[in-house]
Parts: sequence; C-alpha cells; structure tokens
Amino acid sequence: MLVSPSIISSKLENLGNQITECDRAGVFSYHLDVMDGHFVPNLTMGPDLVRAVRRCTKKTIETHLMIERPDKFYKPFIEAGSDILLVHHECLVDLRKLISGIRDENAKFGLVINPETPFEKVRDLIDEAEILLIMSIHPGFSGQKFMDSVLPKIAEAKKYIKDQGLSTKIEIDGGVNDETGKKCADAGADILVSASYIFSGKIGERINKLQVL
Ligand code: DX5
Ligand code: ZN
Repeated sequence: MLVSPSIISSKLENLGNQITECDRAGVFSYHLDVMDGHFVPNLTMGPDLVRAVRRCTKKTIETHLMIERPDKFYKPFIEAGSDILLVHHECLVDLRKLISGIRDENAKFGLVINPETPFEKVRDLIDEAEILLIMSIHPGFSGQKFMDSVLPKIAEAKKYIKDQGLSTKIEIDGGVNDETGKKCADAGADILVSASYIFSGKIGERINKLQVL
C-alpha cells in the first residue's frame, strides 16, 4: 500500500524533521490540504508552505485544493513545487479547461469526489486523471471518523478502472488508520492519505503499519 501523509497534522514547528522521518519510512508522496474558508469551513495553507515542503523532500507533492476557484490558483501551487493537483468535481469550474491548464504547466491532475458524489458522475473524466481521490469524510477537518459508506464506491471505481485498462490510482482521504485502511485496501485502494493517525504516534511505525495493509 502506498502512503501519503497529510502534513496538516504534523508539528509545523518541526516540519523538516517530521518529513525526514516520513521519507525514511518510505512514503509515496506528501499530501497538502489547501482550504479557503469558502469551499470548506476552514483555512489552511498556501503556496509558501508547499515551497517549504519542496525544500525538505524530493518525493511527490500532491496538493489537495479545497477551494472555490482552483482555476485561479493552480499556477502558484505548481510554481511552488506541487507535482499533482487534486481538484474537486464539486468545485463547479470547467474541469476540462483546468486539466489542460495544469498540463501546460507540466503538472499532473487528480480528481476528487466527496462522500455523497456517486462514481458515475465522474466516470467520463477518469481517463484524464492520474489519481481518483475518494473522500471518506466531509472535507474540512482532520480527525473525523471514516465513513464506511464509501467502501462500495471504491470497489466500483476499481472495477471500472480495471475493466477499461486505465492506470488511474485510487486514493482514500479521511479517517484512515490501520483498521479503516485495511477496509480500503480490501476494496481496492492504491494510496492511503492519513493525517491524525500518522502524526499522533510514532510516525515511522504508523506509516509502516499502513504500508503492509
Ligand atoms: C480533510 C483533508 C484530509 C484530512 C485527513 O479535509 O482533506 O486530508 O486532513 O485527516 P485525517 O487523516 O485525520 O482524517
Ligand atoms: Zn486531503
């Protein structure tokens, strides 16, 4: 299982060392949660923090844009060092136009769906996405409880991707720990995002626990 720690729950005063610990544990990527106080009721980081993470690691940085206007802000995040932008289907911008803008900047596109959005709503865009990120909580805050109701959607997406011969990876975000992560793995997830579980214990050990699911 590939693991992508969300640094929203890291100790920011010690970010460099925490990233080194994650790197040593062999994480696949870093997950940066960008919130604008409109699309979700919380405010977090901007491009400067992405730039700081970029200086600490050579691994992939995925930037999860929980903002109303990703079309206005994707460029500064790519300039700051994001390799892949995770954009919500629910943000109501013209996604095909945005995808081509992201590609023009030599970055990758990942598609995100909220718990209540059915897979069929995004089926036609899957072949454009490097990653399909399925939210297993309502976005906005870390530390929420995993929603088992998304498990059938993971299996449905996995089957479609396999049947179509696509290489899109399925990633799960929200309430992931060693127990809920196992359910995701069994349903077909490729990448697990985790914030509070990883950073509230021994970082390396917790990452390793997720990796073997
Ligand atoms: C929530 C974010 C998640 C979240 C994960 O809106 O997208 O990445 O921080 O936190 P945990 O793993 O604690 O649920
Ligand atoms: Zn996220």
